Amino acid sequence: MKRTYFTTIYFLIYLLFVKIIKISANLQCIDYLDPLNSRNKILVPCPHVRSNNKIEIRDCYKSKSDQNNMFDLMFNCDLDDEKMCNKAKSTFESVGRTLTSKLLLNTRIGLNATFRPLEGNLLGSAGPSRAIPFRDEDGKIRLYVQALAKQFQLQVHPEYSSVDILADFNSNFPFWFEGDPQIQPNQIGFEELVLHELMHGLGFLSGWNNDYIEEDSLFLTPNIDGIIFNVGDNIERNSELVFRGFLESAFDKYMVLISNKTLTTELTSNFDKFLDGQNTKFSSINEFKEKFKASPQFDIAKQMYNICIESNSIGFLLNTSNSKNEVVVLETGINPFQGGSSLSHVDEKLFDNSSEFLMTFEQTPGRTLKDAIAAGGGKNRKEEAIGPKILAILETLGHV
Ligand SMILES: *[C@@H]1O[C@H](CO)[C@@H](O)[C@H](O)[C@H]1NC(C)=O
Ligand SMILES: *[C@@H]1O[C@H](CO)[C@@H](O)[C@H](O)[C@H]1NC(C)=O
Ligand SMILES: *[C@@H]1O[C@H](CO)[C@@H](O)[C@H](O)[C@H]1NC(C)=O
Ligand SMILES: *[C@@H]1O[C@H](CO)[C@@H](O)[C@H](O)[C@H]1NC(C)=O
Ligand SMILES: [Zn+2]
Repeated sequence: MKRTYFTTIYFLIYLLFVKIIKISANLQCIDYLDPLNSRNKILVPCPHVRSNNKIEIRDCYKSKSDQNNMFDLMFNCDLDDEKMCNKAKSTFESVGRTLTSKLLLNTRIGLNATFRPLEGNLLGSAGPSRAIPFRDEDGKIRLYVQALAKQFQLQVHPEYSSVDILADFNSNFPFWFEGDPQIQPNQIGFEELVLHELMHGLGFLSGWNNDYIEEDSLFLTPNIDGIIFNVGDNIERNSELVFRGFLESAFDKYMVLISNKTLTTELTSNFDKFLDGQNTKFSSINEFKEKFKASPQFDIAKQMYNICIESNSIGFLLNTSNSKNEVVVLETGINPFQGGSSLSHVDEKLFDNSSEFLMTFEQTPGRTLKDAIAAGGGKNRKEEAIGPKILAILETLGHV
């Protein structure tokens, strides 16, 4: 009797998730090889697997021992300065605890972080190690970063890669660490930076970009499914292309044109009509490009570019119980469009000095996390670094 009861409950819970997300038949995942360069990626097969009980038991044991930090940190310090390495490492641990206290993560997240000398003035970056195609309830296949996909706790899922988030930060940069003496005007607070970057790794990331077909183009598309990438470089230009459609990221499902509240995913639906659909073969990327530029969809791609370089034109439509239909203005004030900065952040002018400062695209030098929180009206608890709108965006994505 009890067992039947349990089974029914289990089945209901299972249905709930099946309703939200269906595993796509399209089982090619994208692996990002370098968090500093999102063009360095490869397509990998990721066949369905059953979730591994052994892993769950291990996770269960771990979460008991470290329930305040759901991030399993692999930290690589390529530096002959133990003190500096330890400062960086404890920052990652602190950020893991902050995210854990805000997000109610149900599945542990593997974070592979490297701290090492990098050339130039780079700060560093973090991002997903794998993006996984899932079919949403509206029928569209979208790319979910692995850290988000895992939170749905599917019994059968595309194979996961061994870590969820990759991070790489420049030890040459004059970072300011918590506990250091007075911050200098040229210093960047490391804790705010790491927290910001990990949000991208958790799925705060649009898939609309201007570099899938050619670099710095004046038109935007979602990810083009079928393009084969080259390790190190970018696109394999001469190989045959079997076009399987345009893939938004999970984030893009909630983007709206502020002027008339149209979901940008409706524009993607028009893209899907390109040459009457999918499985179209092209002899090369160039052939694809020529056909695309001659299609009616190209006008939409150019229109989307022009919309995304004008302030206050794109928003994120929240869908949580507390903030249904509220729109958060995203960054579209950068001209020319800058992949990775445009769209994947909240509007800098509106939010830089507010409680939502964390996800603007530029971090203010000479400002500590404590000062930023205070400027946003907070009382200086670290959790306040994640403002209510930023939190609602993550909740809408599925980090409940
Ligand atoms: C973590 O990153 C380091 C440095 O890039 C790399 O050598 C190592 O193989 C990575 N480990 C995993 C499990 O991805
Ligand atoms: C909303 O605005 C966009 C861009 O200006 C336009 O393409 C679209 O047709 C409009 N949709 C509606 C329903 O008015
Ligand atoms: C918004 O949330 C409701 C219930 O929480 C859900 O049924 C609906 O599908 C969500 N809408 C989108 C676009 O995800
Ligand atoms: C935020 O406040 C600082 C200091 O008062 C100021 O310099 C900066 O311009 C403000 N940012 C915006 C976008 O208004
Ligand atoms: Zn960012």
